[in-house]
Amino acid sequence: MTIDFKDVSKHYAPRTDEKMREVLMDPAGAGPAFHYYMIRGGINQKNITVWEPGTISGEYIKTYGHYHIGELSETYEIIYGQGVALLQKLAEAENGEMIPDAVSEFKAIPVKAGQTIFMPSKAGHLLANIGKTYLVTADDSPVDFADQDPASFPGHADYELVKKMRGFAYYVVEHNGEAALKKNPLYKTIKQENLGGLPVIK
Ligand SMILES: [Fe+2]
Repeated sequence: MTIDFKDVSKHYAPRTDEKMREVLMDPAGAGPAFHYYMIRGGINQKNITVWEPGTISGEYIKTYGHYHIGELSETYEIIYGQGVALLQKLAEAENGEMIPDAVSEFKAIPVKAGQTIFMPSKAGHLLANIGKTYLVTADDSPVDFADQDPASFPGHADYELVKKMRGFAYYVVEHNGEAALKKNPLYKTIKQENLGGLPVIK
């Protein structure tokens, strides 16, 4: 196979501690320089994400979380490790805009290597690493390498609603050595929830 390496796009980006502080349960907690690593291949090669293990003030290391712009679903395969996926749909105003602090449906799904999870188009999603090793996934979301910063912030993803609410409706935290959930007080309502058997702590 002949490849002109001059045309190889920038596929790799790490998510910095500084950026993650926008959405951590404790923005002042001590974390690693990079929380996770992204290698974007798009639909053809898939996108690989690798999470560091560990907690920041009790919250497991997680991806920032985003909503998709337009009708776009994706499927994650868990390749290695153990995690909890959070999916949340926001309520919509009459003009169709999402209401940042009103959740219509929230789901927490514990996952491990060998499993796949489907993220429906309207569901914001993130994954937390609850294991003692890296968590590694492959997903099939499209990447347009003509975007301004496709590896770190692909154009199909909206991060602003998550930033505004400092994370999702629950944080995934360690409690007595096990995964549990802790409510994010900034959210006003959660209409429907399925917490995947995880306990909620105060
Ligand atoms: Fe996504």
